[in-house]
Amino acid sequence: VASHDHLRHMDSMAQLPFGAGKISHHNAVILGEAPASEENDLVFPNAEFSKKALVSSPEKYMEMYKRSVVDPAGFWSEFASEFYWKKKWVREVFSENLDVRKGNVKIEWFKGGKTNICHNALDRNVEAGSGDKVALYWEGNEPGQDGKLTYKELLKNVCQLANYLRHVGVRKGDAVVIYLPMLMQLPIAMLACARIGAVHSVVFAGFSSDSLVQRIEDCKPKVVITCNAVCRGSKVIHLKDIVDNALADSTKNVDSVDLCLTYENKSALSREETKWTKGRDFWWQDVVSVFPTECQVEWVDAEDPLFILYTSGSTAKPKGVLHTTGGYMVYSAITFRYAFDYKPLDIYWCTADCGWITGHSYVAYGPLLNGATILIYEGVPNYPDAGRSWDIVDKYKVTIFYTAPTLIRSLMREGDQYVTRYSRKSLRVLGTVGEPINPTAWRWFFNVVGNAQCPISDTWWQTETGGFMITPLPGAWPQKPGSATFPFFGVQPVIVDEKGNEIIGECSGYLCIKTSWPGALRTLHGDHERYETTYFKPFPGYYFSGDGCSRDKDGYYWITGRVDDVINVSGHRIGTAEVESALISHPKCAEAAVVAIEHEVKGQGIYAFVTLVKGVPFNEELRKELISTVRNQIGSFAAPEKIHWAPELPKTRSGKIMRRILRKIASKQLDDIGDTSALADPSVIPQLIALCDH
Ligand code: WT7
Repeated sequence: VASHDHLRHMDSMAQLPFGAGKISHHNAVILGEAPASEENDLVFPNAEFSKKALVSSPEKYMEMYKRSVVDPAGFWSEFASEFYWKKKWVREVFSENLDVRKGNVKIEWFKGGKTNICHNALDRNVEAGSGDKVALYWEGNEPGQDGKLTYKELLKNVCQLANYLRHVGVRKGDAVVIYLPMLMQLPIAMLACARIGAVHSVVFAGFSSDSLVQRIEDCKPKVVITCNAVCRGSKVIHLKDIVDNALADSTKNVDSVDLCLTYENKSALSREETKWTKGRDFWWQDVVSVFPTECQVEWVDAEDPLFILYTSGSTAKPKGVLHTTGGYMVYSAITFRYAFDYKPLDIYWCTADCGWITGHSYVAYGPLLNGATILIYEGVPNYPDAGRSWDIVDKYKVTIFYTAPTLIRSLMREGDQYVTRYSRKSLRVLGTVGEPINPTAWRWFFNVVGNAQCPISDTWWQTETGGFMITPLPGAWPQKPGSATFPFFGVQPVIVDEKGNEIIGECSGYLCIKTSWPGALRTLHGDHERYETTYFKPFPGYYFSGDGCSRDKDGYYWITGRVDDVINVSGHRIGTAEVESALISHPKCAEAAVVAIEHEVKGQGIYAFVTLVKGVPFNEELRKELISTVRNQIGSFAAPEKIHWAPELPKTRSGKIMRRILRKIASKQLDDIGDTSALADPSVIPQLIALCDH
């Protein structure tokens, strides 16, 4: 049952943003009228934009928001009814328990209903007359290399692969690992799995072979889908070799995967040059194309699993976040529509890779469920130069552009000329995700990229939440650069103190969510206990996000970043324990402690302190080896910025590493080390400081 306390609270904090006109217009900028400058703290939407927006005013938002928390069942079932259900959910719309004190945490939405997300994303749109609309534009690594599929064509491709997967014995509930770059085959593979009720687990193709092993051993797929190689910028990456190694090394609990479906990505590598294991490896182009282009849908229960996506947590073992079908379908579709003010003529480009949750919910499922035209890009943003993104925007007339703060900061550094030489006239909505966006980057994105015409949706959410949780709705209300603004419909954020007490009004603390939402993760694959411990035990009664957050006097939310052992590098989540365990696996490394440092482009960087095995000297060669150990075990994106040799680590008498001190040393705040009286041996501090620039 929805909490009316929360509404009262929203109303009281709503004095300002929700009562239009009550905001002081002093210093305010009207979107589209004048470029924003540093002093302005409110950016108002342009009246023309708002008039046409799906949510046109703070009042309209409040009306919908209130309904969503007073009557979540009614609110969400109305949206759910837009989709096709083979069998409608019967009794209640959902049941839930988020309170570990009352028993096991269980979240269910639309229970008993039978549907299929692939049918809803493709067949339903074709049946509704959008068959000839472009579903998917593909831009290759090289300018001039491209392709497209209409909804009808995408459906045919998906059906062929689905038939093939069924033919080789993949059944409802079986796992399929997908290790592909941003080719059309990636969303095709995801949708094909969904069509037959198989559970996909996409592994970002930047993960190393060891990471792939870990995931394969955890979800035990029947089939692995990959391609031989991919070009990223001027580099060729041999993905099939990485898969070969992973398959050779996956032994734990796996009756070794006996099928590796490989797409031949000709522009990167020919068949002849690809290493091959006869009997296990099959070329996609040879075996899939012989199957019929129609394929019967497997109707699944709303609570049947759709996918597992691994993400980092506080231990070295990644967590297999499990999302189910019905709630995720409704949530990804509706959040997409509102947070981007989606209209049928939009051309939508999200720069995320399908290997992350952003690619699941907002490259593939959310947009396709809305019948949108999406664009995917195989390459990197600075190839052949830093103008490539805007070249692509102009080429396809992109209207909604969704990216990460790290990309914005890296392009900002290259200079405005790379942006301004393109028109970008088609753009109407911008979005960011992955980490807090600093106001300077926000303003650059707004003024330079968007010509001060496009609202920015700074969407806060997580792998676990399935979809947006706190986000602006374009045109609905004034924005503050750097704030994710207000909760999405049905989401009740609360800020709690150390003891788990909810704090009201202007405050800062730990960000939790009260009551469930349709896109919430249902469990961690194979470990429901870890699910409860991680998300529901820290602050009983609530879902705990792992983020710190503050709420200002106007009720705007400001995410301040992770408060747990997770580092956010370029919007990628990396557990300190994962990096430490990789470092320690090096035979010369005795102990490691990893902390985050600020990084101008990546947001955060990884700083590693290492102690070595007795008698081993620290030198440049070892430094490089340690870094490559992390690359090999996790992936290049997790490589430490700095390896700091520590003859001893600062420990308490009980042997606990004092990371607070390490953070100070890593960020060179040497005058402000803090209280060291709890250390077993305080002399390690000057020793560590002396080695700072070693
Ligand atoms: C963590 C989740 C969900 C998409 C990509 C990352 C941080 C995400 C924002 C934002 C501030 C953000 C949080 C969160 N984060 N979006 N708009 N503002 N921080 O997914 O890998 O599950 O990471 O990313 O710290 O907890 P993820």
